Amino acid sequence: MPEFPPGVRVGVAVPAAGHGRRMGGARKPFLELAGEPLLAHALRPFLADDRVVAVAVAVSADDVSSARSWVEALDPRIAVVAGGATRSDSVAAAVGRLPEDLQVILVHDAARPLATAGAVDRCVAAAAAGQGAVAGWPATDTLKEVDGDGRIVRTPDRSKVWHAQTPQGFPADVLRSALADPEARALATDDAALVEAVGLPVVMVEGAPDNLKVTRPEDLPVAEILLARRRAGP
Ligand code: CTP
Ligand code: MG
Repeated sequence: MPEFPPGVRVGVAVPAAGHGRRMGGARKPFLELAGEPLLAHALRPFLADDRVVAVAVAVSADDVSSARSWVEALDPRIAVVAGGATRSDSVAAAVGRLPEDLQVILVHDAARPLATAGAVDRCVAAAAAGQGAVAGWPATDTLKEVDGDGRIVRTPDRSKVWHAQTPQGFPADVLRSALADPEARALATDDAALVEAVGLPVVMVEGAPDNLKVTRPEDLPVAEILLARRRAGP
């Protein structure tokens, strides 16, 4: 693992408090995937990084005590907290549990079990240099913007369009102040949008095309195959 920049202290906020509605109401972070809870896979590349000094996982208030017993046992840097009604609320709760003396905060969805060390590293490098960073991948399908009736109103230039994933990385003070802005919080659909709304530069960095977010039941076997392929090596 490259140690750039030296001595940077990184915290990780993991929103895991969703209702999994598109998964039929399952708590996605606790679903078993390749013999382990999905959340354990999601945390792996962060726990493998020595620059990460603290990880806060926000779960539903009802799940805090049951999750604490096994999630905090995974690694001494992990703390479990109660999340909130929206993803931003859960991110804010997790960020609130991280220590004050961090240079960089990464945010990563508990529902993404396939993040890579490379994506983590690129987010840390950009955030340590003072920018927001979003791991993602350039769009491969042609995209269409439509009106309420499904009529195409615009075909955006595909070469300028990326899919936004997580991890996302930010200078710690920037993310904390963006989360404290109620107007930005109400409008944002992801953490980068929060930071964009307060006017700070955010760049896309290379994630991985297979860094899928487990969203629907059919995503589970796909994620298992991708995990097995990763384990088998290149
Ligand atoms: N999340 C959260 N708190 C919320 C809503 C979402 O921590 N109030 C988390 C989810 O647990 C997930 C991530 O945000 O790790 C991305 O959300 P998504 O994939 O949409 O998961 P859910 O909200 O659980 O699923 P759905 O939208 O189908 O209900
Ligand atoms: Mg959701």
